[in-house]
Amino acid sequence: PNFQMIEGNSSNIGRMDCRAKGAAPGFKVAIIGAAGGIGQPLSMLMKMNPLVSVLHLYDVVNTPGVTADISHMDTGAVVRGFVGKDKLDEALTGMDLVIVPAGVPRKPGMTRDDLFNINAGIVKTICEGIARSCPRAIVNLISNPVNSTVPIAAEVFKKAGTYDPKLLLGVTMLDVVRANTFVAEVLGLDPREVDVPVVGGHAGVTILPLLSQVKPPCSFTPEEINHLTDRIQNGGTEVVEAKAGAGSATLSMAYAAVKFADACLRGLRGDAGVIECSFVQSQVTELPFFATKVRLGRSGAEEIFPLGPLNEYERAGLEKAKTELATSIDKGVSFTRK
Ligand code: NAI
Repeated sequence: PNFQMIEGNSSNIGRMDCRAKGAAPGFKVAIIGAAGGIGQPLSMLMKMNPLVSVLHLYDVVNTPGVTADISHMDTGAVVRGFVGKDKLDEALTGMDLVIVPAGVPRKPGMTRDDLFNINAGIVKTICEGIARSCPRAIVNLISNPVNSTVPIAAEVFKKAGTYDPKLLLGVTMLDVVRANTFVAEVLGLDPREVDVPVVGGHAGVTILPLLSQVKPPCSFTPEEINHLTDRIQNGGTEVVEAKAGAGSATLSMAYAAVKFADACLRGLRGDAGVIECSFVQSQVTELPFFATKVRLGRSGAEEIFPLGPLNEYERAGLEKAKTELATSIDKGVSFTRK
């Protein structure tokens, strides 16, 4: 039987018609890598998002169980599962937003760049599917190393003639989520009140928290700045080590991915003033891609904000970040030209 039979909250005797006619207005979202450590909680949280009317869950393995499980939640989104490479295009067709947490995660001692050899190919395959089946969808790319996988995606889309830089967004939200949490801890504030811009990229020294631009306005001692910068840059490694071989951040990542996806959907709906950090094609520096605050709208990342005033510590950090980023971006671009 076609696995697509696992659909919606309905069994074979359900009155499918009324469901189809009365389908809640909302967006169609696909999660690619939905059965993984991030994919599962991300799928659950997206099923709870009132802006989502249709949720497609795709993976190369194990999607039937995840789909059956999540489809029993009594929320509005209709869930459909797709398993295996030959179902990728079907999973992507008609989607407004595609979230990609597919690929292997880090183990202790690994850098994100160590994942390149496996994940580059996975991202390429998925992006070829996006170019064929939903070239106007917004893409939220989570698969690491983000600093290289976003350039890979751009090259694949260019080759297919579908590239629109406004639609390709590397997800760096977890760095912002961590920065808000750690800064709130130091300041003794509620993390929900704190806003820390994190720019650059998504690996080690390329993760550049701008502590001089924290809202609400505050100041830090040099020790606090060193501690916070180091903890934000190595937050991922903190989790990888604590999980001791069982993977990297999945739950906080799913939370961050949903926070970012929800912002993209609010932008698509036409809400004003939706601003989040993301790794995008950019002219903010001399590098072709860079993470900064972007304004999300009906056509994706509609406005890319400049860095704003940096202090000396941040300017030094920026130089280091740019050197490493340049290498990671080149690595992604050359992969697709092999
Ligand atoms: P995981 O191994 O638990 O799950 C990955 C899933 O991807 C698996 O279910 C696997 O079957 C699936 N997959 C593999 N090849 C695929 C393909 N061709 N098409 C569709 N699905 C495919 O890994 P986890 O922990 O969920 O992490 C996923 C990725 O997210 C990793 O690359 C990790 O480094 C990255 N990550 C990114 C973060 C960010 O801030 N951007 C934070 C944390 C992780």
